[in-house]
Amino acid sequence: MPLVPMKDVLDAAAPQKTAVPAFNIDNLEILQSLLMAAEAEQLPVILSVGQGAIRIGRLKPLAAAVHQMASETSVPVVLHLDHGASFEQTIQCLRAGFTSVMYDGSRLPLEENIAVTRQVVAAAHAVGVSVEAELGAIGGAEDGIGGGSGGKVSVDQVSAFLDGVGVDALAVAIGNAHGLYKEKPHLDFDLLRSIEALPKAVPHLVLHGGSGLDEEAIDTAIDCGIRKINVATEIRLAYLKGTRAATSGDIYETIASAREAVVEIARQKLRQFARKA
Ligand code: 13P
Repeated sequence: MPLVPMKDVLDAAAPQKTAVPAFNIDNLEILQSLLMAAEAEQLPVILSVGQGAIRIGRLKPLAAAVHQMASETSVPVVLHLDHGASFEQTIQCLRAGFTSVMYDGSRLPLEENIAVTRQVVAAAHAVGVSVEAELGAIGGAEDGIGGGSGGKVSVDQVSAFLDGVGVDALAVAIGNAHGLYKEKPHLDFDLLRSIEALPKAVPHLVLHGGSGLDEEAIDTAIDCGIRKINVATEIRLAYLKGTRAATSGDIYETIASAREAVVEIARQKLRQFARKA
């Protein structure tokens, strides 16, 4: 089926109190594996192109491949820009056929983040594309993004941001971090509950840094209103482990082994976030 806007799959997840995984795609094999996993589970999936993939020239090739391969898939698929670096980059993605863009202005002063996000929303919504924004400093580093110790968002910040701009999804820093956690993270679920309870229209909430979170943390996050969970590191590690597991030296065996590893982890996340047994 044709690609769908991210808002559609998150709107569908909300009444069911489930979340949709957003997996980063870096190459064709990972993309193919993720679609195989979504098809096998008959669940929607968000495919994210991040700054690392863009830096190695994969924005347009991956976008074209997602369009082609998703057209042969029977489940809803979203093509999403992860951590959009500028207004210009989000426009490049609109042109390349993305159905969702994130603009990450979290390092800017709030008013500047609001101003640029408003421009992105005006352009993206004009062509039916969803928009994700980010508030607070998510810890760790991902594709050269972040790298700080992480500073949680405040309820007042979220409230002021939402008064300034209407986004479809909002990534919030609640003690989460990109990359594998060195120790068990303490996610601030009370903060998440207070954001969710704001007396205004709260967009779908997004949890970055999904790799390495245990089942209980994921479950509570979904209970508190998280509708999209980003997973990159675990997908990349599975892919690399899969390539190493093939020892024959045959390229097709290596690809098949990597693909099998990615399908397995993706199916597990899809099921877990959809709360299927
Ligand atoms: P992980 O690499 O920790 O899964 O985080 C992914 C992410 O949040 C992408 O934006």
